[in-house]
Amino acid sequence: NTHHLLILVGSSRRGSLNRQLAENVASIASAQGLRTTLPDIRALDIPIMDQDLEATEGIPAGARQLRQVLEDADALIVCSPEYNGFPTPLLKNALDWMSRPDGDIAGLDAFRGKPALALSASPGALGGLRSLALTRQLLDNLGMLVMPEKLSVGSAGKAFNADGSLANERQQHTLSQAISTLTDRLRRLQS
Ligand code: FNR
Repeated sequence: NTHHLLILVGSSRRGSLNRQLAENVASIASAQGLRTTLPDIRALDIPIMDQDLEATEGIPAGARQLRQVLEDADALIVCSPEYNGFPTPLLKNALDWMSRPDGDIAGLDAFRGKPALALSASPGALGGLRSLALTRQLLDNLGMLVMPEKLSVGSAGKAFNADGSLANERQQHTLSQAISTLTDRLRRLQS
């Protein structure tokens, strides 16, 4: 049975560097025999968390859809820029809605016990490094098993080859290793 990886990107900007990183992750994962889903969060049209809206209309369809994909997935990889050192509102908002109970479904069911990996990219030198600890803490709060592997891609405007891989071979190797470690973890969890 093929393992399924959900990749969430904290930016839906046209030409997003984190989207590029996510697509690189997806192609590494496919090459390692994993199935991947890489949705565009903005296209799901998820409103800002509003508990009055939640009380009257329930969970927005886009958030419910994303929660369903996570339910089906074996692991989550987040690629997010940092905005003032924090993971983006686009990402946080989607995760917040996905964490809410929905009818018979308990809030954190889709998250609990699943391996998660946090990555970031930025045109800045640190690559969004400051947000990684916070993203990791958020995923931990959601009940996920946050992997120790991490990568922040700095100067990301010139970090990618034409084929989408990272020009820095050491970084590309780190990423590839992180994904195979994640796969090993999944195998051990499910054996
Ligand atoms: C940024 N950016 C940024 N970059 C960074 O390295 N550290 C930071 O704290 C911030 N803060 C920040 C705040 C806000 C409100 C914006 C809009 C941007 C720059 C950011 O990394 C850059 O725009 C990236 O290109 C965004 O990621 P995508 O869209 O390319 O994936």
